[in-house]
Amino acid sequence: MIPHSRPLFGKAFSDALIRIVESGHVAMDGETVLLEQEVARRIQKKCAVAVDSGSSAITLALRVLDRKAGGKRVGIPAYTCSSVLYAVLAAGWEPVCMDCGEDLRLLRDEALKQAVSFDAVIIVHPFGMVEPMAAEAWPCLMIEDIAQASGAILNGKPVGCFGDVAVTSFYATKPWGGAYGGILASDDQRFCERIQAMRDPDGAVQLDGYVGHHQLSDLHAGMANVRLKAADDELNAREALSYKMDAWFDGGEIAPVSGIHQGNHYRYIVRTAGAAGSFLNQLREYNVTAARPVTMPISRLLGTYAPGAERAWLDMLSLPMLVDISEPEFKQLKEAVKSCIN
Ligand SMILES: Cc1ncc(COP(=O)(O)O)c(C=O)c1O
Repeated sequence: MIPHSRPLFGKAFSDALIRIVESGHVAMDGETVLLEQEVARRIQKKCAVAVDSGSSAITLALRVLDRKAGGKRVGIPAYTCSSVLYAVLAAGWEPVCMDCGEDLRLLRDEALKQAVSFDAVIIVHPFGMVEPMAAEAWPCLMIEDIAQASGAILNGKPVGCFGDVAVTSFYATKPWGGAYGGILASDDQRFCERIQAMRDPDGAVQLDGYVGHHQLSDLHAGMANVRLKAADDELNAREALSYKMDAWFDGGEIAPVSGIHQGNHYRYIVRTAGAAGSFLNQLREYNVTAARPVTMPISRLLGTYAPGAERAWLDMLSLPMLVDISEPEFKQLKEAVKSCIN
């Protein structure tokens, strides 16, 4: 069975884990500091604070930003990972959906109109593609979520450098994945200090229901550090593979989503003319695991209607994107995809 994701965990990971265990410092220590410095450098932010997950990074950001924001209405994409929604709810903010167009990016005019009533907005670079609205002048605070697009470039700059705060995830299958973990980055040193205070109950400076042990362990940071060293090569390998996959499509309505090559090639998303469900089943018959890019649109989870997100749910399919795909697997995948197109 070809899996949808297959992160590579070679000897460099086991060596790092053994070294960290033998050092006797497995909780938050030097590896975490290294990771914070490396992420801040990569996304051109002054400071970064590693935490226990990407979801926690969003929740902590909103908990700390709420006084500055003035209110608690936050715009989030209607078609994105549900953990963004749950992180917003955990922070006690009110989520408002922004719909997407056929290329899965936000509908610019509609989003800017909505933003007049937002106190903050979370901009997600979707599925490894870049969201141009990250470079927009927003009338509210902007959190840039690069969990799926870490390493991508927008307007000549690394994604993550655009927002008031950047967040990402180190979950195993993510482009910068170790095992679990997340990080926040900002140019505002005081913001970073407040997050540091919230990730350690003994260091807390305010009574807040989300203060707790949100540190990242050195074991997890060490895994993410190894991935970061390989991240550029992995991105290049995904890019080469995704260009090869383009040749499977004949220019008809079943095709890779537009703009798929602007980004870090984390996912290979195909539009299926409304047939995502049946394609999923057909691919499974060929022993290929594809996936819907999101299990359920956030708009639907909230009981609201976002036509773009609904269309995307019917239409979009994420094919396996495996850095180490073998020649027989590549052929098997091609045959399976071709069977859906014909
Ligand atoms: C865009 C986005 N933001 C945030 C998260 C949450 O990250 P984590 O799984 O580390 O909590 C995810 C992953 O699930 C994600 O895809």
